[in-house]
Amino acid sequence: MSRVFSGIQPTGEPHIGNYFGAMRNYVRLGEQYGKQSLYCVVDLHAITNPAASDPRYLAARTFDMAVANFAVGLDPSQVTFFVQSHVPEHQELAWIFTCLTPVGELERMTQYKDKTAQLESVPAGLLMYPALMAADILLYKAGVVPVGEDQTQHIELTREIARKFNHHFGETFPEPQAVYNKEALRIPGVDGHGKMSKSKGETSTLGILEPLDSVWQKLRVAPTDPARVRRTDPGNPDVCLIFDYHKLFSDLPTIELVNVECRRAGIGCVDCKKKLMEGVTAHLTPIQERAEELRADPSYVRDALAQGAQEARAIAAPVMEEVREKVGF
Ligand code: ADP
Ligand code: NA
Repeated sequence: MSRVFSGIQPTGEPHIGNYFGAMRNYVRLGEQYGKQSLYCVVDLHAITNPAASDPRYLAARTFDMAVANFAVGLDPSQVTFFVQSHVPEHQELAWIFTCLTPVGELERMTQYKDKTAQLESVPAGLLMYPALMAADILLYKAGVVPVGEDQTQHIELTREIARKFNHHFGETFPEPQAVYNKEALRIPGVDGHGKMSKSKGETSTLGILEPLDSVWQKLRVAPTDPARVRRTDPGNPDVCLIFDYHKLFSDLPTIELVNVECRRAGIGCVDCKKKLMEGVTAHLTPIQERAEELRADPSYVRDALAQGAQEARAIAAPVMEEVREKVGF
């Protein structure tokens, strides 16, 4: 049986893009693959982001990311859940992959271009990021990688690295496949500026553990169809991010009602947002309650991460042994 691997960065509060795009598939695949599904809080990736590498916050964010994943239904006794830096083999394999990967290919990655566009000084780690990501996945010989659509290019590069390694050193790694949630390929940010992302900060995100009054404050001022100026103007749900969110949070009758009434100005944007907020509240309340319980029991979370690191290392160590031998170390 093949393995599942996915990583999530402790760069900020986990948001509904992470949740619908990736974390829900972690839970689903976790039920199917059990301990052969590995989920990793990728703190080595997080420190490529200068704003997220403050040591005062990194440990707390890593802890919170574990809490969030357990709160949405990942059971650490059923899957393998761990922290990247606890398994040093990730870095060892990453170096070998870095040596196999042309700089030009790394410079072509759209995420690299996006993340560096605003930076005066670019950390080399941002360029190497996809080689480390390939190591994360291939260290476990994973064949299945649940991710959002923004990771497509990185998974393709991972496949290329696997092919290249196999070609140079002999058949070793599978070529992994991305698995998407088709309903949530790329959830837009609540500020209306592209993809929702932790690294863009809290104006972009609706956190799954964010207090609901704060979620409402962001929804209340979120942009809708820009062509709908007055309450009496008909709107177009197809260009409205609130409608995108309805498709994630609301039941079918509500989605249908909003779709019809918006187009004939039967419902205003504020009422539409209030309806959305009902679905958001119903969805997030039990998750937030579970997170509170977990926060009250930090030793449970820490023990689970320590156990997870042991389980991950038990898989990683023999793979790394095989790699060292093949490379000639
Ligand atoms: P972020 O971009 O918010 O920092 P990560 O890089 O930690 O998030 O990604 C964690 C997972 O969440 C990845 O599988 C990523 O593809 C997915 N993801 C992130 N943002 C979105 C989004 N807006 N829509 C769908 N999936 C997303
Ligand atoms: Na990302």
